[in-house]
Amino acid sequence: MYNFLQRLSGVTSFAMSTLMALVVVIALTTPFIPSSPTFDMSLHNVQTTTGRAMDPYDRMSRKAEYARLTFDLDADLSTMFNWNTKLLFAYVTVDYTTPGFETNRAVIWDRIIKNKRQAKLKLRKHHNKYALRNYPLTFEDVEGANLTLHINPVPYLGIMYDKPVVSIPFTIPRPVKPAAGSA
Ligand SMILES: *[C@@H]1O[C@H](CO)[C@@H](O)[C@H](O)[C@H]1NC(C)=O
Repeated sequence: MYNFLQRLSGVTSFAMSTLMALVVVIALTTPFIPSSPTFDMSLHNVQTTTGRAMDPYDRMSRKAEYARLTFDLDADLSTMFNWNTKLLFAYVTVDYTTPGFETNRAVIWDRIIKNKRQAKLKLRKHHNKYALRNYPLTFEDVEGANLTLHINPVPYLGIMYDKPVVSIPFTIPRPVKPAAGSA
């Protein structure tokens, strides 16, 4: 005869293993839930200038070259929300190759999208949210670059994965003119 505690323990361990199995199934299947997001991105222009307003924490900011991008972004990500979506992390990177380094990546814009209402993006003539400059402070040896939109769904349960969705090749121009007042 089973006593009450043995029964309870049996039921509990059955519930626990069922729950574990469910967690694994949810985590594994979430990336395959169909969705039909739309994306469109276009680059209006890229301007490179030398120097920026003095940043007291960065003595290089006067001499460095900065690229400023002007882009449009249209996206409807609302269908990417399902019951296991906590939020979507959308970000735009600039990837480029330099002689010493195959891949250089800088994030120039990002946004956290918490619900379907925020999932329709319509940016017009938008600029980098974050400054773009190369590690050697010049874009001189930069050959080609890509502007890429990535969507990263953050699930309640399971793993995050990176999804590049649109990519635009472009070149980073040389500075238009030296900054006024630079030596
Ligand atoms: C830009 O993207 C294209 C197509 O994916 C790729 O062939 C190229 O190597 C990329 N360029 C850079 C600089 O990452």
